[in-house]
Amino acid sequence: MAKKIIAVDGPAASGKGTLARRLAAHFDYAYLDTGALYRAVALTVINNGQDPSDTSAAVTAARELDMAQLTVPDFARALRTTQTGLAASIVAAEPDVRAAILAAQRQFGQTPPDGKQGAILDGRDIGTVVCPNADKKLFITARAHVRAERRWKELVTQDARLTLASVLADVEARDARDTNRATAPMKQAEDAHLLDTSDLSIEEAFAAALALVDG
Ligand code: C5P
Repeated sequence: MAKKIIAVDGPAASGKGTLARRLAAHFDYAYLDTGALYRAVALTVINNGQDPSDTSAAVTAARELDMAQLTVPDFARALRTTQTGLAASIVAAEPDVRAAILAAQRQFGQTPPDGKQGAILDGRDIGTVVCPNADKKLFITARAHVRAERRWKELVTQDARLTLASVLADVEARDARDTNRATAPMKQAEDAHLLDTSDLSIEEAFAAALALVDG
């Protein structure tokens, strides 16, 4: 029987990662954070002393991406910084970078690991490009100020100098780059359910997401 696929897309800090993880736990499906792949490509380029806007460096890093790195603690920590997020949105605009990691994402959806009966992928283009035939599609969003505040609360515990204004600027810069790029821009698929989490608690957002997936 074909495995179930749930696509969860949306902008930075919309809550899509938390919701996708919780949905995966609820249904006992495999979960793939596709943003981490773009972050890993960007971090590899930076760690090699190269610039994320150096196309050939980014494409090489994408073609040689080693998924095992994602679980190495130091690497995993460095993936989550705002600098890596911004650099990820630069490498992600390069069509050959996207092409290099497309098959692995599709493979995850079609053949989820550990014999799971389904997969949940979160990102920007899952419902539109990676898994256009997904069984269910959600597009999670929230007002930019709300998203920036959530991200800032998370990050300020590691860097007390970080200001809300700078996080908001980063979130807006990333949204603009992700929405305006030519290849696989962030977009709500026509058949995706829209969920705005701005005024919802995590529990309320999860209940709403579950109702959309079950409906
Ligand atoms: O989801 P996350 O914020 O970790 O993603 C980091 C960056 O990776 C995004 O800003 C976007 O540029 C890129 N990305 C993408 N397509 C995806 C997932 C992430 O372009 N499916």
